[in-house]
Amino acid sequence: MPKIVITGGAGFIGSHIADRLSEQFPVHDLVIFDKMTYAADIRNIQGLITTGRAELVVGDVCDFDLACQVVDGADHVIHAAAESHVDNSFGNSLLFTRTNVYGTHTILEACRRMGVKRIIHISTDEVYGEVRDGAADEGTALNPTNPYSASKAGAEMVISGYLHSYRMPVVTVRGNNIYGIRQYPEKIIPRFALQLDSGKKLPLYGSGRNRRHYLAAQDFAAAIALLMQRGKIGEIYNVGSDDEFENIQIADMIAGIFGYRLEDVIDFVPDRPFNDWRYAIDSSRIRALGWSPQRRLIDDLPGVVHWYRSNVFRFRRLTAGLANPGTDIDARLRPATPDT
Ligand SMILES: NC(=O)c1ccc[n+]([C@@H]2O[C@H](COP(=O)([O-])OP(=O)(O)OC[C@H]3O[C@@H](n4cnc5c(N)ncnc54)[C@H](O)[C@@H]3O)[C@@H](O)[C@H]2O)c1
Repeated sequence: MPKIVITGGAGFIGSHIADRLSEQFPVHDLVIFDKMTYAADIRNIQGLITTGRAELVVGDVCDFDLACQVVDGADHVIHAAAESHVDNSFGNSLLFTRTNVYGTHTILEACRRMGVKRIIHISTDEVYGEVRDGAADEGTALNPTNPYSASKAGAEMVISGYLHSYRMPVVTVRGNNIYGIRQYPEKIIPRFALQLDSGKKLPLYGSGRNRRHYLAAQDFAAAIALLMQRGKIGEIYNVGSDDEFENIQIADMIAGIFGYRLEDVIDFVPDRPFNDWRYAIDSSRIRALGWSPQRRLIDDLPGVVHWYRSNVFRFRRLTAGLANPGTDIDARLRPATPDT
């Protein structure tokens, strides 16, 4: 039976990829390899697990022996596991380097040893750093500006070494901000929805004018499915949308969904140590393969906000501080940012 492994598959994007691949590759064995950190939730993949459609292996991508066992016999490994929240990276950057750089290296080496046929590595547009005007294409030099994006760029450097030294079959994907259900509410959309739902104001960094592009998780998953079949080995693909918004516009849209005026619910707070003004990527390369975004944030946002309000029980632990003893609850309640 052909086999697909998704690291980080119980997280936000990984679970959307799992849903997509489960439908598109119905005869493949699906294995989700996830450490089940605070950002994961078994409910993200419960349907796939209880129906036997996917198997969950709980473990660390930095564990080489386990990684070898998990990827053994895999046709495709989709590497989505990561520490993903920029704000946390300012406080605990070593964990980011461990998971994102050493973890990627470990998965790559395991794939090399086990002869995996294709690896799709999920990276981010943040590796380009700030893009004030225009858009970065895949040839633009990397210029990461925070510990998270530096760790993602570091992972790409390890991949570059493996591509040249071992001709590893890796395709790298640099996504812009992804939105949808199941995202841990440290990122701007779920955070703001839950803030307003609990009667609190919306903490917004700086002027609120920083800009980000937003792509639906389903569209991103479709891009991954396409690149599994048609992505060129060794190539990098930007995967982004034209949907660009200032943070304050996101706040305004969400306030509007609740029936509030923005000025009544906004709370400006000092910015974080460094905050890129804008990210923007040119996705012509994957568009030439026939992919394009099918969804728009403006259309999806009411449904997404409704999902967070209906699933508020999932996230009570965030304010109660019960689920992750030892984690920095205050840090996790810092102002929301859109970043990945
Ligand atoms: N969210 C975005 O907007 C966005 C945009 C571009 C790229 N990305 C990238 O996409 C990938 C997924 O992001 P996400 O938003 O779904 O993140 P997420 O934080 O929701 O999920 C990350 C998953 O990885 C798992 N994980 C963390 N450390 C692990 C380890 N050591 N071993 C095994 N599993 C581990 C977590 O348990 C979690 O399930 C990341 O590589 C991220 O850098 C995210």
